[in-house]
Amino acid sequence: MKFEIAKTCLYFHLDRNEIINHMNINPMIMDSIKSVLANSNNIVFLTGAGISEESGIPTFRGPAGLWKTYDPMKLASISGFYKNPKLVWEFYQDRQNLILNCQPNAGHFTIAKIEKLKNSNVLTQNIDGLHKKAGSKNIVELHGNILKAKCTNCNFVEDINKVIIKSLPPMCSLCDSVLRPDIVFFGEPLNQTTWKNAQDISTNCDIMFIIGTSLNVGPVNTLPFYAKENGAILVEVNPEPTVFNHIMDFSFRGKAGEILPTFLAYFNTK
Ligand SMILES: NC(=O)c1ccc[n+]([C@@H]2O[C@H](COP(=O)([O-])OP(=O)(O)OC[C@H]3O[C@@H](n4cnc5c(N)ncnc54)[C@H](O)[C@@H]3O)[C@@H](O)[C@H]2O)c1
Ligand SMILES: [Zn+2]
Repeated sequence: MKFEIAKTCLYFHLDRNEIINHMNINPMIMDSIKSVLANSNNIVFLTGAGISEESGIPTFRGPAGLWKTYDPMKLASISGFYKNPKLVWEFYQDRQNLILNCQPNAGHFTIAKIEKLKNSNVLTQNIDGLHKKAGSKNIVELHGNILKAKCTNCNFVEDINKVIIKSLPPMCSLCDSVLRPDIVFFGEPLNQTTWKNAQDISTNCDIMFIIGTSLNVGPVNTLPFYAKENGAILVEVNPEPTVFNHIMDFSFRGKAGEILPTFLAYFNTK
């Protein structure tokens, strides 16, 4: 009921996508956001590589993105993996070492704090485990986790730091088949149980934050549509416009680690 009131109040603004530069936020719009946040009961944070950029992990796209230097079809596709598993493992070992030394930033921590205040879920495309490290509990890792390895043949899955690696590619201790990083490569479907869960969570939310994702990768980029069809408010946080900018109700142009902490105050001041 409360949420209905908040939404009605917002329609004035929702007729068009409000682009909000966080250095210059219109107080009226901030009041609307405040009201939406205070009255939301079921929050989703859909996150992508951009939320971890301030932790020192490069994104895929953009000027400093990984795909400017590396060929995704060789290093991040299932066909590339089977063609040259050693090369792919070398690439992922470098990324694992980087990620193991990275810490969550203010964006991750704010999301974890909001989970303590409100019913909320993180749907992340990231494979870096930083949401968990920040303290979030309700996390769906849509693309797996780079800090785990799994067998290409049997059900063996293990934390990477517990896998004995004599040479690359590492082999399964149960069946001696090649191990692979426990991530979804380009050209592979998502785990169907995980995907169904993400669809249900998106369909049932009343507000979805879309943070640090270019929304170029499917099927994850359809999740905002599940939310929108159910009447949820979409709030994008990204320094750049995304391909689905036009369906957002609010777009905050800025870094996740700077913008998300400013929202926390509004959850607290209900
Ligand atoms: N950290 C990770 O786990 C990681 C890193 C790189 C790529 N990926 C993989 O990339 C694929 C999908 O791409 P994507 O959409 O997640 O990333 P992407 O590289 O396509 O897009 C990153 C987005 O983040 C934005 N961004 C950059 N800095 C930001 C910041 N400080 N705050 C907020 N936004 C910021 C960019 O403008 C861009 O829109 C996923 O499959 C994911 O598994 C994951
Ligand atoms: Zn095995």
